[in-house]
Amino acid sequence: MVPENILTVEKAEPCVWGVSSGKGGVGKTFISTSIALTLSKLGHNVVLVDFDLTGANSHTALGVDPSHMSLRHYFESQKSLNEIVLNTPYPHLQYVQGFWDSWSPVQLSNADIDRFWNELKKINADYIVIDLGTGSYQHHLDLFKRCDEKFLITNPEPTSIEKTYRFIESFICSTLKDNSTADAFGKLMYVLRDHRQRILPQPFSFKKYLLNNDGFVFDHFEQLSKNPIRMIVNSVRSPQQAELGHSMRSVCYKYYDLSLEYCCAIDFDNAVWQALRNREPVLIAQPFTPLSGQFLSLCKHMIDPGELRAVV
Ligand SMILES: Nc1ncnc2c1ncn2[C@@H]1O[C@H](COP(=O)(O)OP(=O)(O)O)[C@@H](O)[C@H]1O
Ligand SMILES: [Mg+2]
Repeated sequence: MVPENILTVEKAEPCVWGVSSGKGGVGKTFISTSIALTLSKLGHNVVLVDFDLTGANSHTALGVDPSHMSLRHYFESQKSLNEIVLNTPYPHLQYVQGFWDSWSPVQLSNADIDRFWNELKKINADYIVIDLGTGSYQHHLDLFKRCDEKFLITNPEPTSIEKTYRFIESFICSTLKDNSTADAFGKLMYVLRDHRQRILPQPFSFKKYLLNNDGFVFDHFEQLSKNPIRMIVNSVRSPQQAELGHSMRSVCYKYYDLSLEYCCAIDFDNAVWQALRNREPVLIAQPFTPLSGQFLSLCKHMIDPGELRAVV
């Protein structure tokens, strides 16, 4: 007789892709929904999670009615996470409705986030795509840090670019906090304030600072570069605007010692809001456009970076 444990194939954990941005309205919901739809069209089992605490609207991007069953049921311990995973009209795609009753504020503790993450990793799916919402709140950064793949969305407007840099600074500091003593981190905060006020005697470099001061894990930036933030420039209207990703990547390297990956540019397309108005995702309404192709390339590149190069 074959021992039972040989027959039990361990199910791999889902790969979690987090989508965030420094500024609101830059296309997180559109991009997270489109990535989830594209992965599902490739035959993967996908769960889209709406974790935008400032107002969930992934259901609108999916073209479905908001469900009564939402993350509130989970965080108020009425349901397990698995029980609030809902079907969508699209094969292989399920979703978790976010908080859409924003009149009742959401108070989450660190323990809530830990529990959420542990249950998320047990969901039966190949990919989980989280629309994380905007900004650099603690819980938001905590979740973003844990994601297997981290996508940061910006658009080519100065307001968005500036807030993207602010997000990256918060991300770096938040990861440094996890890799330093409280004293060392507290001192760094003062130095950064002086840096912002331009009163340091010489330009600030995170790497030099880590090298010359005790209390930090020195190879912090090497660790971050192994699984870099992937920047997506959305609503691009010209090839020049698509170049923005390269410049932002260089700026991050020069001023923050941080290696980002410029993942791709996504075109501005009027079909996006027209499809929204018709309550149908644009990738479903118009599956064979350059826009759909951009999401397909993005997902294929992420799943198997060698495959596209082989075709080209
Ligand atoms: N590539 C794009 N082309 C055209 N319109 C877009 C594009 N991306 C987003 N939009 C529009 O911009 C608006 C904000 O997008 P949304 O995804 O809700 O942003 P966020 O989730 O970051 O707040 C939506 O009305 C959406 O239709
Ligand atoms: Mg949104």
